[in-house]
Amino acid sequence: MCGIVGYIGDKRAYPILIKGLSRLEYRGYDSAGIALLQEDNAIKIYKRQGKVLDLTEFIGDASTEGTVGIGHTRWATHGLPNDVNAHPHSSGDGSITLVHNGIIENYDVLKKELIKRGHVFKSETDTEVLVHLIEDIKEKSGVALEEAVRIALNEVHGAYAIVVLSTDEPDKIIAAKKSSPLVIGIGEDEYYLASDATPIVEYTKNVVYLEDEQIAIIHRKNGMRIISLRNKEVSPYVQELEMQLEELEKGGYEHFMLKEIYEQPRAIHDSFRGRLNSKEGWVSLGGIKDYEEQIANANRIIIIACGTSWHAALVGEYYFEDLARIPVEVEYASEFRYRNPIIRKDDVVIAISQSGETADTLAALKMAREQGATLLGIVNVVGSTISRVTDAGSYTHAGPEIGVASTKAFTTQLTLLALMALAIGKRRRTITDKKFQVYLNELEALPGKIEKLLESDDYIKSVAAEYKDAQNALYLGRGSSFPIALEGALKLKEISYIHAEGYPAAEMKHGPIALIDENMPVFVIATQGHNYEKVVSNIQEVKARKGKLIAIVTKGDTAVRDIADHVIEIPTCDEFVVPILATIPFQLISYHIAVMRECNVDQPRNLAKSVTVE
Ligand code: F6R
Repeated sequence: MCGIVGYIGDKRAYPILIKGLSRLEYRGYDSAGIALLQEDNAIKIYKRQGKVLDLTEFIGDASTEGTVGIGHTRWATHGLPNDVNAHPHSSGDGSITLVHNGIIENYDVLKKELIKRGHVFKSETDTEVLVHLIEDIKEKSGVALEEAVRIALNEVHGAYAIVVLSTDEPDKIIAAKKSSPLVIGIGEDEYYLASDATPIVEYTKNVVYLEDEQIAIIHRKNGMRIISLRNKEVSPYVQELEMQLEELEKGGYEHFMLKEIYEQPRAIHDSFRGRLNSKEGWVSLGGIKDYEEQIANANRIIIIACGTSWHAALVGEYYFEDLARIPVEVEYASEFRYRNPIIRKDDVVIAISQSGETADTLAALKMAREQGATLLGIVNVVGSTISRVTDAGSYTHAGPEIGVASTKAFTTQLTLLALMALAIGKRRRTITDKKFQVYLNELEALPGKIEKLLESDDYIKSVAAEYKDAQNALYLGRGSSFPIALEGALKLKEISYIHAEGYPAAEMKHGPIALIDENMPVFVIATQGHNYEKVVSNIQEVKARKGKLIAIVTKGDTAVRDIADHVIEIPTCDEFVVPILATIPFQLISYHIAVMRECNVDQPRNLAKSVTVE
């Protein structure tokens, strides 16, 4: 969480920093701030509680000159989200200023030590400790800024991506990272720094992803040098960005979330393009080709993820166990990493992550690595940390997802899990040729079916209007639709702040049924498939308690229509792809309810898109 930006070059830094922060706002929006190195060699800092817009209003006509600057958008960890705790933070004499994404775990010990040495702190943040520590080292040993940063970082435990300025060395910007991402864009005699590539793409496509424990020393005239924390010179690996600028704009939609919901036909198509050929009857995932044998012979697959990606993992369990007959365990990365799990060398661990930066998922991978498992990634953000620390993997190719609530990333994760399970099932001969072919056809038909489904959006909006004032909601599903019930509930709570629970439909009678009365909307996935009749019985139980029933059904269904208050049809399909299709009405319901309740759909309160703290 938190987004950081930096610029050094010949242009005015201010507009570049502000635009960059707006792009990174999805990472946190509790406060925002910038620091500009001005012509008179003073550092001008503006910071404000609230969003980037609040910051620019606050700055108004004040001076924003300067061609070197840094900026920050915050998701609060240590200290309230107020003006004082907002970044940038400065040293006691104001000569050094920095922005930080991550957590300095030993800040308390360091702070006490620094206070003893006469340092005075203004904020409650862990970050301020780091800038004082750098100042302390610089004052004592008279070393250059980069050396003071290097020595300081060797004393620090935790995660950081930092960008540092100093009035003593105004032609320099120092950046470093460990466990939080940092990208450096290389222009003509200018450099852009950011937590991800989105603020950089419109200026240059040449980027360096800084690795853990590396420090970049960027000099206006002498260019960039990278050293390690141990002071070894490192050659920068320059990569070309594939991202297009248009992908980062709303493109006429009112919100990014709606745009991303509507992008799903294209996103899913991109996720299987070149990887599936129904005419020739094959699936091939280039990214894991060399590991297919190993996956096929795995003792067990462990899928680790958080949040929405964890819901995708649960569907993955159905896919792998059904099609490839390999035992699967699905784990919350945050729990897995702390519970001394049994991991063997012939286990394959698959991490699923949109951002590729989730701290808990990364830590769980690290633990699995230490115990010798093979690590695979299903990741959306190209070049992200998870994509680099895993042995192999596949990108979902959903394109940048800016809305904090995950939509297209989720359905493309499901598509990739289906492809992987099919590829492995085929290799293990645990799936018949006929079934294999049916499933390929089903996947290929998805974009067209989703287009069709999106045509019911006005109707779905009218259904949403009926439930916009609900205080609670239940989501039910069975089999591979159960994780979709969880995902439906999560979408509703995170953007509309209505309390919602997802449950396996049959579990309802073991407790949650007590909640059902005439005010309780119950969303049920009741599509055709082997659980259909059982779900219909569960639906009867809801109606018998006067619950309001909104059912996702297969086109043409009449039995559920007779019982439910509302039905939303999905196109006729095999139950294999129901999890993907049934997700879409739930996304739209949540979206419309949130808009009607005047919630901030793209930036819900207390959340951030990239959870880089544990
Ligand atoms: C919910 C949502 C989160 C993320 C979770 C994991 O809409 O987006 O629950 O799914 O924070 O993030 P990634 O997938 O980036 O690891």
